[in-house]
Amino acid sequence: GQPQLHYRDASLYLEDRRLSDLAREHGTPLYVYSQAAMLQALAAYQRGFAGRKVQICYAMKANSSLAVLQLFARHGCGFDIVSGGELERVMAAGGDPAKVIFSGVGKTRAEMRQALEAGIGCFNVESEAELGVLSEVAQAMGLRAPVSIRVNPNVDAKTHPYISTGLKGNKFGIAHERTVATYQRAAQLPGLRVVGIDCHIGSQITEETPYLDAMDRMLDLVQAVEAAGIAIQHIDFGGGLGINYNGDQPPAADVLWAKLLAKLDARGYGQRQLMIEPGRSLVGNAGVCLTEVLYLKPGEQKNFCIVDAAMNDLPRPAMYQAYHAIVPLEAAGAQQEPQVYDVVGPICESGDWLGRERSLAVAAGDLLAVLSTGAYCSSMGSTYNTRPRPAELLVDGAAAHLIRARESVSDIYRSERLVPTKA
Ligand code: LLP
Repeated sequence: GQPQLHYRDASLYLEDRRLSDLAREHGTPLYVYSQAAMLQALAAYQRGFAGRKVQICYAMKANSSLAVLQLFARHGCGFDIVSGGELERVMAAGGDPAKVIFSGVGKTRAEMRQALEAGIGCFNVESEAELGVLSEVAQAMGLRAPVSIRVNPNVDAKTHPYISTGLKGNKFGIAHERTVATYQRAAQLPGLRVVGIDCHIGSQITEETPYLDAMDRMLDLVQAVEAAGIAIQHIDFGGGLGINYNGDQPPAADVLWAKLLAKLDARGYGQRQLMIEPGRSLVGNAGVCLTEVLYLKPGEQKNFCIVDAAMNDLPRPAMYQAYHAIVPLEAAGAQQEPQVYDVVGPICESGDWLGRERSLAVAAGDLLAVLSTGAYCSSMGSTYNTRPRPAELLVDGAAAHLIRARESVSDIYRSERLVPTKA
């Protein structure tokens, strides 16, 4: 399922670079991303929106490396941010703050001030309490904060419970029934300016139905809010479109949007300014994580393939039991018979696994690629077990740019201090 990834003479390439060369040059674990794959994913949305007023705000939590942000900014994207830290990254990468929208249930006053100073495009507000605080903060600065209210359309995105966000029982958004009252409250607050409405129903969504249902409910709400005399300039439909990890068949972005736009047109909202917040679908299948086999450990019940990447580098399997394909970088070299292994990292936790029951023909020293790791892998990484963060490369044709140097151990403890001791 990964564009730009292919075997050439039994060696795995990303665009025009042989991945084993990159692993030897830069060491492992190593993240490698394809620029062309990211732009292809973006192009699917751009095709779907041709002739429409749409702002694509890349949900940068999926992969917040500066060079990735720079690439999307250069191609016209804004950004969906969830912290003041992410806003700083957007600025450092040359992004346009006017194209930034700020989501999240727990924005601090300091983050609100920072975002107002930067002049972001919109705050996606998630509660009535937040509306009040934002109004106060903006008023104190002599400003009116542009706001959109995140509504909860109460549809089942049919995805992993940790990444489903549009149902009643979770912390996100404002209940369907409270929408008009909340907009009326927002319209009365002196530090706010109502500009839009938004929703986000979940992530790794592979079916059309939840989206189509959410659009119907969103448009019902737009109609109700406008009937109450409050104008909605933009409709932000969130992110969530899934990718192919393991035979998943999400709709293509342009195909899905043709159907959603038909709904907008049918109800007379076709010329309204639209926004979307895609994350995973722009970057997930643009990246691989390269790792070296350290040891093979055969056992009575299981065989283990112990590699040098771990749950700190790539947390999705440990956190969500997520599946990522694992393939050899050199397919022909293997002299061994394939065996079934659990592929695990060096961390002292049983949850430290990258793949379970995988058939692999490998020996110690072989290099493997963990696939579909462009989204929510590096960005969710940690330094647990004092393991420095991997280096990252962005491949563009035959060029491989180092976009993140491998972290050093002293980088990890730079801000720590010893306690003074008596002489
Ligand atoms: N907008 C909002 C308000 C969000 O909360 C998210 C993701 C997005 C947009 C982007 O969703 P996407 O297009 O990437 O599905 N760590 C999990 C995914 C968490 C998603 C959180 N919110 C994972 O690794 O699967």
